[in-house]
Amino acid sequence: MESLMRRSAITTLVIVSLLMIPSEALKHDVGGTKYNGWAPNKMNYTSDWASHEQFYVGDWLYWGFDEPRINRQLYSVFEVNKTDYESCSTDHPLYNISKGGGRDVYQLNHSRPYYFISGGGFCWQGMKLTVVVHELPPAPTEAPTEAPSSSGSTSLSASLPGMFAIAAATALRAVL
Ligand SMILES: *[C@@H]1O[C@H](CO)[C@@H](O)[C@H](O)[C@H]1NC(C)=O
Ligand SMILES: *[C@@H]1O[C@H](CO)[C@@H](O)[C@H](O)[C@H]1NC(C)=O
Ligand SMILES: *[C@@H]1O[C@H](CO)[C@@H](O)[C@H](O)[C@H]1NC(C)=O
Ligand SMILES: *[C@@H]1O[C@H](CO)[C@@H](O)[C@H](O)[C@H]1NC(C)=O
Repeated sequence: MESLMRRSAITTLVIVSLLMIPSEALKHDVGGTKYNGWAPNKMNYTSDWASHEQFYVGDWLYWGFDEPRINRQLYSVFEVNKTDYESCSTDHPLYNISKGGGRDVYQLNHSRPYYFISGGGFCWQGMKLTVVVHELPPAPTEAPTEAPSSSGSTSLSASLPGMFAIAAATALRAVL
């Protein structure tokens, strides 16, 4: 019985370790959808969408606004600084993200706040987004080693809930 429990604990540990392999960078569809996710008067992108996502260094943002076709000309995406974000100004963009096809991507390379707005006056109609990017949580460097005595299983089970939490968070990220 005890060896069975021990076996299942070790099996769980192996599965958890596999889940803990650092996940690759995620692509976040702005507005929660690939199609018409970036549109006027749709939502408050910062509070309604971004606040429910976790952004890590290396992740990507995707803005979809290619249908109907006219949207590709109307809307755009610029990275601007905080001042220009607040005043909806594209007079001195930090980065011109739109390429014209209405399917734009941008990699979040740094751990800092980012400010994005649409040109054409649509920033005033809610097409603005702030995201805060975090450093990736450090990858675990050593797996817990098994002690030879009975205390081994105690420490093993004690460390499992924490590991489950990490694994669950990692799995959740992968799904979202
Ligand atoms: C969106 O929500 C944020 C955070 O609550 C708020 O500061 C901001 O004024 C809102 N933006 C708009 C355009 O309503
Ligand atoms: C944003 O850029 C404008 C124009 O270059 C500048 O006047 C302003 O001080 C900048 N704001 C910040 C927060 O850096
Ligand atoms: C941004 O880049 C697109 C595509 O290269 C270009 O058509 C557009 O004129 C640029 N916008 C600004 C304000 O530079
Ligand atoms: C982000 O980093 C990648 C890889 O170094 C680089 O190719 C890309 O140009 C960077 N993106 C921005 C927006 O700086």
